[in-house]
Amino acid sequence: MVPMPEAFDAVDVIVAKRDRRELSDAQIRWVIDAYTRGVVAEEQMSALAMAVLLNGMTRREIATWTAAMIASGERMDFSSLQRPTADKHSTGGVGDMITLPLAPLVAVFGVAVPQLSGRGLGHTGGTLDKLESIPGWRAALSNDEMLAQLDGVGAVICAAGSGLAPADKKLYALRDVTGTVEAIPLIASSIMSKKIAEGTGALVLDVKVGSGAFMKNLDRARELAETMVDLGTDAGVRTVALLTAMDTPLGRAAGNAIEVSQAIDVLAGGGPADVVELTVALAQEMLAAAGRGGQDVAAALTDGRAMDAWRAMIAAQGGDPDATLPVARHAETVVAPTSGVLSRLDAYAVGVAAWRLGAGRARKEDPVQAGAGVVMHAKPGDPVRAGEPLLTLHTDTPERFERAIEALDGEWEIAPAGTSIETGPLILGRVARD
Ligand code: URA
Repeated sequence: MVPMPEAFDAVDVIVAKRDRRELSDAQIRWVIDAYTRGVVAEEQMSALAMAVLLNGMTRREIATWTAAMIASGERMDFSSLQRPTADKHSTGGVGDMITLPLAPLVAVFGVAVPQLSGRGLGHTGGTLDKLESIPGWRAALSNDEMLAQLDGVGAVICAAGSGLAPADKKLYALRDVTGTVEAIPLIASSIMSKKIAEGTGALVLDVKVGSGAFMKNLDRARELAETMVDLGTDAGVRTVALLTAMDTPLGRAAGNAIEVSQAIDVLAGGGPADVVELTVALAQEMLAAAGRGGQDVAAALTDGRAMDAWRAMIAAQGGDPDATLPVARHAETVVAPTSGVLSRLDAYAVGVAAWRLGAGRARKEDPVQAGAGVVMHAKPGDPVRAGEPLLTLHTDTPERFERAIEALDGEWEIAPAGTSIETGPLILGRVARD
């Protein structure tokens, strides 16, 4: 049989975007479909991604691009559930383990949380890598298992199946190696295609801003948030975004098991104040977007209800909530050289250090070390004393210490005692189409 001729030529599409012209809906639908089929070559898509990064896309182009990525795969359907659904997505940061306490916390209030999560790549951690440090826990669930868990426990954190937005999987891997990750239209369509295909009724986006985030300044973060909120709203998903600070790590740990342990502290009513603040704020937004607002969310962290939901969620996926978490075989401490107040601790540097210690991976197929990472004994604004620990570095492979310490060199500062440190708010803004 003679193959059907293709509707467009990839070079014409690339040239149009290179020359700052708007792509038609038909061109966009074709290019995404033909790329998924392997007809548009990797080098052609990489040229197009670079043209998009340099020249941008209109709101219509982004919406069509997102819809085409959704159409490249399956859509999930939670309409058989008796409760509303709400999900959260973070654009990625250092020490960001908020999903772990957040999903069970929201489930306490009768809203189901279908949290499809990813693995870490580069300096930002991945939720699945963190949870896999719990003995027995498994990330891969079938759609039926996921639905059953949402019906019973009310919360599930698992890997997205390969059928969800396959065009994005291919394109994301390509962007990662062609310097085109940072394009706002591509980030927004990548995140929202997966979230819309997942079928959640409500979505809260945590758009990180600062050195440890993709978006280094507030204007670009707001533009990304607005683009994603528009995409979600137009697709019928109640979508809200919070803009949150990521100049310094969240919480006091960056790694896998050490972040799980911190999440358990939060679920037990303790934990670092910034993690609690953000968990409560995101839970309130998720509940409001799902039509269950106005609840005393913080109480469920202190009275054990969120912990009960966590234990049920972990056990439902084969994990042992009582198991001792893995501890790295070696530790090295960075001590404060002088007394004073910690005035700066850079999020990106801590993320890179944790990554180099083995908490993250350099290539997708690399294993991660469950116990590796950085524990922070002080955060900006805290007093420190000469000779006392500032950071503890953990790894199973001590030859990694040198490069991890190098990453931290010059990335923290101590001001004289009594200096007042302006740490700034954690929540920098909110974007919604109310
Ligand atoms: N996360 C995604 O899923 N896609 C992006 O493009 C960036 C972050």
